[in-house]
Amino acid sequence: TFVGSEIKIDKEFVTGEVAPNIFAGFLEHLGRCIYGGIVDYGNTKLTNDKGFRTDVAEAIKELDMPVMRWPGGNFVSSYHWLDGVGPVDQRPKRPELAWLNTESNEFGTDEFMQWCEYMGTEPYLCLNMGTGTLDEALAWVEYCNGDKDTYYANLRRKNGREKPYNVKYWGVGNEVWGPWQVGQMTKENYALKAAQWAKAIKLLDPTVKLVACGCNGVDEWDQHVVGETFTTHDFYSIHLYTTSQDHYKNVFQPAGAETAIQVTSKLAELAKITNMTNKKFLVPLTEEQKKKEYKIVFDEWNVWDPIRADGEHGAEQQYDFSDGLAVASWLNVFIRQAKYLEMTNIAQCVNVIAPIMTNKDGLFKQTTYYPFQLFSKYFKNGQSLNLSVKSPIYKGDVGDFIGLEWVKYVDTSLALLDVSAVYQPAEKAYYVAVVNRSEDEDAETKISIADAADSLNVTEWAYYHENIRAINTFEKPNEVVPKESKVTISNNSTYKFPKHSFTLLKIQE
Ligand code: AHR
Repeated sequence: TFVGSEIKIDKEFVTGEVAPNIFAGFLEHLGRCIYGGIVDYGNTKLTNDKGFRTDVAEAIKELDMPVMRWPGGNFVSSYHWLDGVGPVDQRPKRPELAWLNTESNEFGTDEFMQWCEYMGTEPYLCLNMGTGTLDEALAWVEYCNGDKDTYYANLRRKNGREKPYNVKYWGVGNEVWGPWQVGQMTKENYALKAAQWAKAIKLLDPTVKLVACGCNGVDEWDQHVVGETFTTHDFYSIHLYTTSQDHYKNVFQPAGAETAIQVTSKLAELAKITNMTNKKFLVPLTEEQKKKEYKIVFDEWNVWDPIRADGEHGAEQQYDFSDGLAVASWLNVFIRQAKYLEMTNIAQCVNVIAPIMTNKDGLFKQTTYYPFQLFSKYFKNGQSLNLSVKSPIYKGDVGDFIGLEWVKYVDTSLALLDVSAVYQPAEKAYYVAVVNRSEDEDAETKISIADAADSLNVTEWAYYHENIRAINTFEKPNEVVPKESKVTISNNSTYKFPKHSFTLLKIQE
């Protein structure tokens, strides 16, 4: 047991509000995410009249995701949206170049929109900047959002949808910097093309919000593209996956995402200052742009072990309890850095590196499902608090990210106790999330809340399994689940956080 750790909480120290979109999702035409996950044509036992998997829908609804990104991912870089609209039996089957599969196009734009309406979630579409053209992108925006008597708006009406879908979020390309990308670009190429596309798209529909394509937030790409897209785009996207077979590397790597968010937000600040002061810019910033924060859309994140889950096998990963703790640490990062985040999208939602796994007869919820569910349910709209945390520091090696060797060398917090907290004024309650990342030591931790009563009513969700390699399966779906209980604690007293555990505390004021 380590003693002497402490968490000091004061609701006056608010850093920002937790946007509900921090709990958004992502679906890609990859493996069994769409076909066999979201829809399961012909499986009449588990689908509704549209072919939507109702069990998957229920499980995703419990994660309460306000936005869903689609259709990729890498898939989008050779996707032609026109192939996926109109009578299903006339849609072409196409080779797709990201995952080298055949796309049937049975699930296209209208099916995705119907699914979003059925789920009560908002669509976020990503544009094809690989094989796609600006004309094709404009046509897609018109198909979705056009309300006039124009060709693609009329095509949507002909396909059975009178009202526009009013899609707000549009991603301007996906990972176009990647060597795996059809149509890989240099940062200079992208900056120019993204500005041209943004201008045209906003002329067509000024209500849309455009997300520029970033890298991991700290790359040379980001150093260039943040500044170049600052005036033309609304948000800046970054992607990061963490992984390791080693428990400590697994649970500490999300700390790198915290650095990535901080660096990107500083780049955005610098972009604003440069645009305001650099005389070479002929068009001065508008008053609105001077106030702009250029927030981050972290639209792909998760634990993903490319060895356990390679693209060839549909990126299906069996998550263990250590991975569940890593996801809790990821979410702690997002809560602490909430003020910089417009949205984050867990990649992905079903079957493909996902918290939900299906077969023809049902599904089970992976170890990564429950931390997401608890955070999504209790942290939305909360006031993220600047905490004082005293914790032993991990001294071992935290390894490399995929391509992010720098993480070892920067000042990233390697505190064994990983904590975030919000205050929910409407409930007059604190929600405190604590991951004890130590593999073998419990933590006796003092919890102090400023200006609170001596005796506090607490609801505890304890997420613990003695074996960090424990998994849920179709046969044993409830091997790893959180346990809820009620306790009373005294302010300024110690609380025990078991070794390798995630604990959520609701502390009533
Ligand atoms: O989510 C899986 C893949 O990871 C996405 O297609 C791509 O954008 C990223 O490299």
